[in-house]
Amino acid sequence: MTDSLIQIHDRYFKPMISHDEIIRKVESIALEINNLNCKHPVFISVLNGSFMFTSDLCKYITLQPKICFIKIASYEGIESTGAIKELIGITEDLKDKDVFIIEDIIDTGNTLEYLYNHILKEKPKKIYTISLLFKPEAYKREISVNFVGFKIPNNFVIGYGMDYNELGRNLQDIYTLAH
Ligand code: IMP
Ligand code: MG
Repeated sequence: MTDSLIQIHDRYFKPMISHDEIIRKVESIALEINNLNCKHPVFISVLNGSFMFTSDLCKYITLQPKICFIKIASYEGIESTGAIKELIGITEDLKDKDVFIIEDIIDTGNTLEYLYNHILKEKPKKIYTISLLFKPEAYKREISVNFVGFKIPNNFVIGYGMDYNELGRNLQDIYTLAH
């Protein structure tokens, strides 16, 4: 991981979590999920931010999950707008399935709560929630996050799928605002 700052749009970001650290964590989350021995797992990856995490996580999964994607948006710039617009729906049958919601990062929890309630209507057997990053100080909801990679302070981050106004998603490390 480089020590240097990177500029995206008008902001500077500094390295926070290296790719190696991320992958070690992803592997350990996968191990825990494998140990659940779910019969009919369906992974629902929340686009766009979760694409890289989902992709790496799946490589270590020894279950046979169906993998699908949902796209919802609540963020503009570096702050959550609160309002959620569903953009791509779920086509998979979730009834009696073990559903795993895969998030890149959970901030206020608005997105997670919205998704959770939406999925609950499909009568799954169980819903598990997974997030690579979790901001405990920002979280305002009751739904528990079953698998968390890293708890982080309430600061804006980018990289490993996460963006600042659509840039930075391709970075292999995670960066945080420098100032
Ligand atoms: P929430 O609804 O406030 O929990 O925000 C959830 C979504 O906002 C995440 O899935 C991300 O896509 C995005 N998000 C939250 N915090 C950050 C951040 O620090 N950097 C980039 N995206 C973020
Ligand atoms: Mg997201």
